[in-house]
Amino acid sequence: MKFFVDTADVAAIAELNDLGMVDGVTTNPSIIAKSGRDILEVTKEICDLVDGPVSAEVVSLDADGMIAEGRKLAKIADNITVKVPLTWDGLKACKVLSSEGTMVNVTLCFSANQALLAAKAGATFISPFIGRLDDINLDGLELIEDIRTIYDNYGFETQILAASIRNANHMSECAKIGADVCTAPPNVIKAMANHVLTDNGLAAFMKDIEKANIKIV
Ligand code: G3P
Repeated sequence: MKFFVDTADVAAIAELNDLGMVDGVTTNPSIIAKSGRDILEVTKEICDLVDGPVSAEVVSLDADGMIAEGRKLAKIADNITVKVPLTWDGLKACKVLSSEGTMVNVTLCFSANQALLAAKAGATFISPFIGRLDDINLDGLELIEDIRTIYDNYGFETQILAASIRNANHMSECAKIGADVCTAPPNVIKAMANHVLTDNGLAAFMKDIEKANIKIV
């Protein structure tokens, strides 16, 4: 499963990238707003930092506006992925941009029907939002399972990019289901390493190392 980092925090991306944990990056208007930076500038910096796909979202709501913005974003770097919302205008923009060879990430997906439409529109990635479904007592992971089944039934090449990841369990559960990608905040990726028994075991080892005065160098 590919790990994308869901942030515009360049330092955080660089730290994980150095560990080989970054296969791509996703941003959205809220993430860009939080960064306080110009979207074109920070997106270019991220594209220069990582080799994998970097998603930047359009801000228009009409297809023509999305297409114009998508073409401008695509000029930033070869690894740009244009993010469009799952609306009919977004699907139209997806069809046009993907036919021009631009990677497209169709976002704000909350149903299997929406994911089916995105695949037929030629999306490179579909972004189902797990956490926001969980927030309203629906089952975000069940949506990932449904999309995986549908895409496999018909051989759709659109990659499932599980998004709105809120905890480490989402990562492992998405991997079990077979999501192609998870995009998560840096802290969620880091939390994957945490386990109380690892901490306890290491503490016990340290006691025995000190007691036995074990030295290697
Ligand atoms: O990539 C989508 C993600 O940023 C949304 O996450 O936590 O705002 O639902 P969240």
